[in-house]
Amino acid sequence: MSQRTCVMISSWNGVPAALRAGEVIAGGGGMLEALVRGIGVVEDDPEEMSVGYGGLPNEDGVVELDAAVMDGPMHRGAAVAGLRGVRSAAAVALEVLRRTDHSLLVGEGARRFALALGFKDEDLLTPRSRKAWLDWKASLSDRDAWISPDQATSGFGRALWAGAADPGTSPDSPDSPHAVPPPGQSRAAAPNVPFTFGTIHVSGLDANSDLFACTSTSGLSYKIAGRAGDSPIIGAGLYCDNAVGSAGATGRGESVMQVCGSHAVVAAMEAGRSPTDACLFVLKKIADRTREKRLIDEHGRPNFNVTLYALRKDGETGSASMHEGYEHVVARGSAVETRPCAFLFEKRTQRH
Ligand code: GLY
Repeated sequence: MSQRTCVMISSWNGVPAALRAGEVIAGGGGMLEALVRGIGVVEDDPEEMSVGYGGLPNEDGVVELDAAVMDGPMHRGAAVAGLRGVRSAAAVALEVLRRTDHSLLVGEGARRFALALGFKDEDLLTPRSRKAWLDWKASLSDRDAWISPDQATSGFGRALWAGAADPGTSPDSPDSPHAVPPPGQSRAAAPNVPFTFGTIHVSGLDANSDLFACTSTSGLSYKIAGRAGDSPIIGAGLYCDNAVGSAGATGRGESVMQVCGSHAVVAAMEAGRSPTDACLFVLKKIADRTREKRLIDEHGRPNFNVTLYALRKDGETGSASMHEGYEHVVARGSAVETRPCAFLFEKRTQRH
């Protein structure tokens, strides 16, 4: 088999992951291990509020992580969901693949599995993510007992969310879906409280033209305890078929799951669509099948974002978002580049 340049595609936050993965490959490591160790850099970053250590917690203030890996040549995926107290969720998912006959470990079982293997047990809240959670609680209602420190010192004449997280340090960024709150939680009620569906996904094609994928997330901010999104679901948050291509998803997991999003992208590539067209095709499917009014904006478009990533067997990449303005990362050999995503709906003056 011919030796080719390794190719990776990732979500906007994947530059450090691609760089570390490149080092692992240069050092003789395999692509799946490289993806997991690359994502580990982002999981370790206390400033990244959508993944691993420092990720935004559930409504009880507990960080619960979801992650999955997929090995194209073996056609096997494995995952953990609702993992508490262990930051390296992707590495734990890889151990599920390597050491068990199972595909998904959840909650306390996933945690006990990780601790048995020697993963470190720690509080995953940072001062910053704890503050975000407290600010979120303070913004919820004027009828509960939670008030923000600002209200306590300045009285109740100001908006409930005043004094919440500094917008300059909020995790809003070109492809962080923080701008869209979950249904039922109006961003208007808490505009400065960090919020995310953010996730990291990386798909990789190695020098033997074999495909691998990894996705890791702290999931929807302030979710109900036990909620798992698309990221740990093989076929939703990631999927690869070694004969066709690999795909992954970030953004509103509930919507990705309803169409088996990553599997649908790979199926669309198998049917002959280019990676970018495959992503747009699946986004249109999501948009067309979004029927609940609470999920639709005044222009009839989904009021949330999903971004899809596709890597074809021949090394061609593509990515598209539901809405304009998002980015992804492509690495070819040692060249790592951030690129704009294609999109289904162009920006309007009033962006959600
Ligand atoms: N896509 C990440 C999540 O919804 O949990």
